[in-house]
Formats: sequence, structure tokens, C-alpha cells
Amino acid sequence: MSARVERALDGLCQGVHHVAIAVPSLAEARKTWIETLGLVETAVEHVADQKVNVLVAYAGTQRIELVEPAASDSPIAGFLEKHGGGLHHVALRVTDVTRALERLKGAGMRLIDEAPRPGAHGTRIAFVHPKSAGGVLVELVEEVRR
Ligand code: CO
Repeated sequence: MSARVERALDGLCQGVHHVAIAVPSLAEARKTWIETLGLVETAVEHVADQKVNVLVAYAGTQRIELVEPAASDSPIAGFLEKHGGGLHHVALRVTDVTRALERLKGAGMRLIDEAPRPGAHGTRIAFVHPKSAGGVLVELVEEVRR
């Protein structure tokens, strides 16, 4: 294995962007995560592309996204049916999603998205298949460049 394969995101990964948790209801999840655990809630966003509502919350500077299906054919609805809620994905912040995808592909990782697609707030995102990441769905997030 070459060094490139072993450390495919070298120089591109800046840390964990967020952890996403699938929930049947944001109202119910609020009670646990905001009222009981004390995370600080910010906005609820509707992400049309994914057919979900996302409550963005912070534990200190760390971001947790609670994700509720906004339609019965939402990918999250299928996940809830299968797993009954819980950890949905871990998102890594990268400087360049396109390059990250090229490198991961070069490393033989299975990708859900071959090319970046638009995320919330002008971000560019892509998903790596859980079969290539120990059963964890991994999202890559590139923040807007100013
Ligand atoms: Co995400």
C-alpha cells in the first residue's frame, strides 16, 4: 500500500464538522438533547435535497445535528425504520471535497457521491459508503470560501 492510500485525506481534513443523529421527531429529541443534556440549539433548517429537517445544536464548539424526516420517502425515514434512530453519520471538514473524493477513490474506498453536491449554507458535501468505513456513514463537508 502506498503512503497516499494509507493517508488519503492528508492535508485536506481539518477535523470533525458535525455528528448527525437520526430522530423520529425533533420535538422529542429537543427534550433530550437541549432541555436535558443542555446543548445549545440554533436554527432548524429544512434540507430539501435530503427531505429532512435539521436542528443544529452545539456542545461547546462541537456541532451535533438532529435529523428528522420531512417526508415518508426521506432517506432518514428508511434509516429509522431499519435502525430505530441513533448515530446516522460523522462529517469531516475538508478543504476541498473534489480532491478528497479523488483521493478516496484512488484509495479504493466506495463512494456514495462521485461528485460534490450542494449542502446547507453553500457548503459542498459528499458521502462515503459505510461499507468502506467500518459501518459508519461518512460525510465530507467543504465550507464556503470567502
Ligand atoms: Co451531515
